[in-house]
Amino acid sequence: MKDKRIILGITGSIAAYKAAILERALVKKGAEVQVIITSAGKEFITPLTLSTLSRRPVISEFFARNDGSWNSHVDLGLWADAMLIAPATASTIGKMANGIADNMLVTTYLSCRAQVFVAPAMDMDMYAHPAVQQNLDRLRSFGDIIIEPGTGELASQLTGKGRMEEPDVIIEKLEIFFAKQNELRTKKILVTAGPTFEKIDPVRFIGNYSSGKMGFSLAEECAQRGADVCLVTGPVALQTKHPRIRRIDVETADEMYEAAIAHFPQADAGILCAAVADYRPATVATEKIKKDSEPLPIQLTTNQDIAASLGSLKRKNQVLIGFALETNDGIVHATAKLKKKNFDFIVLNMLDEPGAGFRGDTNKIHIIEQNREITSFPLKNKQAVASDIIDKLIAYLQ
Ligand code: CTP
Repeated sequence: MKDKRIILGITGSIAAYKAAILERALVKKGAEVQVIITSAGKEFITPLTLSTLSRRPVISEFFARNDGSWNSHVDLGLWADAMLIAPATASTIGKMANGIADNMLVTTYLSCRAQVFVAPAMDMDMYAHPAVQQNLDRLRSFGDIIIEPGTGELASQLTGKGRMEEPDVIIEKLEIFFAKQNELRTKKILVTAGPTFEKIDPVRFIGNYSSGKMGFSLAEECAQRGADVCLVTGPVALQTKHPRIRRIDVETADEMYEAAIAHFPQADAGILCAAVADYRPATVATEKIKKDSEPLPIQLTTNQDIAASLGSLKRKNQVLIGFALETNDGIVHATAKLKKKNFDFIVLNMLDEPGAGFRGDTNKIHIIEQNREITSFPLKNKQAVASDIIDKLIAYLQ
């Protein structure tokens, strides 16, 4: 934490009193803390308390009416090594998720290139509301790290989930983030993600349910740990935020193959998370196929196996990671793919394990290595799963 520049955003929640404890602990650990507080936040805790702790004036307004001095949200966004919004109210989370820049805090958030941490604090029913949950999902999709609130007695005297996480836990998350930040510095990682779409005619395709979430989480995790990432993705509704992720959008397995083959030689590792279609229509109709009373057989032809091709090109110092989604005999099938495609290790998820696989925000994985060692992990959110996989990759790269 020493010399790290941290923007501490404080909003209008009773948990604002804990922000002073948080700020004090950050300063004690050697961080430079710049507080930005909303008008509602100032109702709960005074700027004087906060500026005394950080030894810096607290920022709240865009400008001072009396002398015309103003605060640059752009400079602040560039200054920070991390931004932590604690406590984050439902209102601020909603503004962040929708780009509503009507105060200094959210405006700085939109300008900030550094990692953002968000520690929500609110009543349990507010926290559970789909509007809040969807906004938090949007923030996750922007790459922000949500520090889930704890469960317990709330200021409303109700008991439930909504209590801002304790300052020592929040600080531990920041410390882990900073400690991991350079682990992959100088490394180049190729990640494939999402589904592929194989054209039938100008308006139809064969696709699959892959959301791309796991691959994007892996790309984000690699970038956060200092790697330069080349993310080759099929059609997904996800955004990338990290400046070290170079994104290449493709549609078909053929296009993904070309991009992966072109970028793998420069990479230290390849993570093949895409759900690539094994087949494509042998011919693509140039005009929309019209309905007929007869059945419509579609002849399929095989696509290139990107993983197997990279496996045969792999140099000694490169690491290749594959994925297997299985419905039955998972260990047997995944081990066969590990060998056939020359992966260093394969990440298996079983569709029949609750919370695992496509589309959702969670995953439950087993990592199988060439020496047949199997490590099984509990159900986690996809960012935490990505962290486990990248920990293993780092052990291989060393
Ligand atoms: N893969 C790939 N290119 C393909 C097919 C698969 O790169 N054309 C990669 C996937 O990204 C994944 C791994 O290979 O990392 C396993 O994919 P899977 O489709 O399960 O393997 P298959 O050999 O096609 O086996 P299955 O018969 O189960 O489809």
